[in-house]
Amino acid sequence: MLKEIFEQPKALAETIAPRVSLEPAGLRIAEEVRIPQSELRELKRINIVASGTSRHAGIVGQHIFQELVRLPVEVDYASEFENRNPLIGRAELTIVITQSGETADTTGAQREAKKKGSRTIAISNVLNSTIAREADGVLYTNAGPEISIASTKAFTAQMAVLFLLAAYIGSVRGDLSKEQLRGWIEELLDLPRKADEVLKQAPLCQRLAEHFRKIEDFLFLGRAIHYPIAMDGALKLKEVSYVHAEGYPTGETKHGPNALIDEHLPLVMIATCDRNDPGSVRRHEKDLANIRQFKEQSGRIIAIATEGDVETKALANEVVFVPQAPELLSPMLEIIPLQLFAYYTAVIKGLDVDRPRNLVKSVMQE
Ligand code: BG6
Repeated sequence: MLKEIFEQPKALAETIAPRVSLEPAGLRIAEEVRIPQSELRELKRINIVASGTSRHAGIVGQHIFQELVRLPVEVDYASEFENRNPLIGRAELTIVITQSGETADTTGAQREAKKKGSRTIAISNVLNSTIAREADGVLYTNAGPEISIASTKAFTAQMAVLFLLAAYIGSVRGDLSKEQLRGWIEELLDLPRKADEVLKQAPLCQRLAEHFRKIEDFLFLGRAIHYPIAMDGALKLKEVSYVHAEGYPTGETKHGPNALIDEHLPLVMIATCDRNDPGSVRRHEKDLANIRQFKEQSGRIIAIATEGDVETKALANEVVFVPQAPELLSPMLEIIPLQLFAYYTAVIKGLDVDRPRNLVKSVMQE
């Protein structure tokens, strides 16, 4: 798992670089998408279905798509999709995200979507996997084989692919200008370097895991696009260290979870801020207000913050910094300290971090 966490800069580079060009600014994924641009222009809605960590990538993708492509996006658990008798059909695209390409729930969901007339695009990490073969279009995460049961490098690569797909569809539909596309491509190409920067925080994450080793319950918090990252941080900790953790929208704690918050329940809060984005600054002000309130309740906060954010550092009990990045790309950086925290917690407990009890890499039965 540690090897795969540290392979993320390479996985991001190999997933992004072959698909983008700067002179001229463009994306080279039409032949993978395989759905005619005329059909993409007719789309009315996008559905995303997946399981586990892949579904968290889907929720990040929902925020990215709704920003770059002016279309409604719905995300569903693959295992729930067919129970919802989904009202989907033509002029819809169903994106199926799956590392293994073999998860039975997700295969079933894709078949259901096809039966109802939806076009499907698979995002998979395994060449010619069942789900990849049955999709209209296939976009591979070039993360290399992911062996550890808890998904890390495939997850960040999935988010990168979702961004590329959203940028492509947004460009085809005229929602994204050439200048905007160029700006995003430059930021995407700089992500592997930023991911390397975050990995240098590994010793700090190890110290935090040691400091909190006796804790049996955590709350992971995040707003907007950061909420699915809070959920995945909680899932990683549960999966590999068997410590209970829950991911929650930060703004929702006042409607219930606040009753849990005291000195015995540490809070891991994603409190990053893109200073160039007024929406992000507004959200960050709310994060700071929440941190102040939790401190009054004797809550202890481990914040994931943006480099240079002295205000969050002064307020939180612990801070792990990640480099400044546009909010739509920050999830690919924010998840790394949470992966490391989960990994070190499991190792400190002497657990088999790569093969956690009761879990398998790909659940082949529904
Ligand atoms: C679980 C794995 O069994 O399946 C998770 O432990 C994974 O890591 C989930 O996110 C979905 O798997 P896949 O291969 O469809 O992404």
